[in-house]
Amino acid sequence: MSAFRLIRRTGTLVFVVLLAAFGTLAFAQAQKAPAASAYEPQSGQAGKDVVWVPTPQVLVDRMLDMAKVTPADFVMDLGSGDGRTVITAAKRGVRALGIEYNPDMVELSKRNAAKEGVGGRAEFIKADLFETDFSKASVITMFLLPDINLKLRPKILTLKPGTRIVSNSFTMGDWIADETATLSAAEGCTASWCTALLWIVPARVAGSHKVPQGEVSFKQDFQMLTGTLRAEGKTFALEGRVRGEEITFSAGGRAYRGKMNGKTLELR
Ligand SMILES: C[S@@+](CC[C@H](N)C(=O)[O-])C[C@H]1O[C@@H](n2cnc3c(N)ncnc32)[C@H](O)[C@@H]1O
Repeated sequence: MSAFRLIRRTGTLVFVVLLAAFGTLAFAQAQKAPAASAYEPQSGQAGKDVVWVPTPQVLVDRMLDMAKVTPADFVMDLGSGDGRTVITAAKRGVRALGIEYNPDMVELSKRNAAKEGVGGRAEFIKADLFETDFSKASVITMFLLPDINLKLRPKILTLKPGTRIVSNSFTMGDWIADETATLSAAEGCTASWCTALLWIVPARVAGSHKVPQGEVSFKQDFQMLTGTLRAEGKTFALEGRVRGEEITFSAGGRAYRGKMNGKTLELR
């Protein structure tokens, strides 16, 4: 065999061996590549009205503690992201529903709930939170934006008195929170979003109410009350607050407690 043919044959052999090696490598990589369904969201990714940033798990826990959720509750998370709040509530034995506009996040949440074994109590719907009826919720959780909270506020204020609203970090304009808690790094919150705020939907109590003691007139600013108590022929200025249907106020140096029973004020 000529030297030239020998070189050509050796070259062909090397080429075939290399091709086989690359083929095997490509096959192995294809096997390692993530399945098409392994959607991985990125913190800060765009959303319809708000980007996705997850609430730190330790704050999710605190938000649900603050709302004092029990299995009697129905929790709704508006803009539910990867489903963590709904899943955490479901793990506490609570029925919970996530409303999320991004269909990939909805599917991811369903997979996460199934993995955690709470698929039966944790549900997710692909929907726009502005077009969602959340009147059945006894607890609403959210991590949206201040202007979105403000847009939702009129609807929230028509919910059943006592409904608890918990927000990660963002406020509700001049409706000040009933409770606020900021978690420290020592408490496990090392990220930026570590404040939970709670509002309790107040009963509507503005106006005059006849009570055995006399007459109470309330001026209501969300949960804050001012007004007068007329009793024993005198008029006293009052100050107080309403928490769901429970009313507390002080007037004339005395503390009063009461409850709205429908439209009737029952004063103790
Ligand atoms: C800041 S993330 C909060 C996610 C989750 N609630 C949490 O605390 O981890 C806001 C979520 O709202 C979703 N979102 C934005 N606009 C929405 C809309 N109009 N309706 C429903 N979901 C929306 C985003 O896709 C994103 O997942």
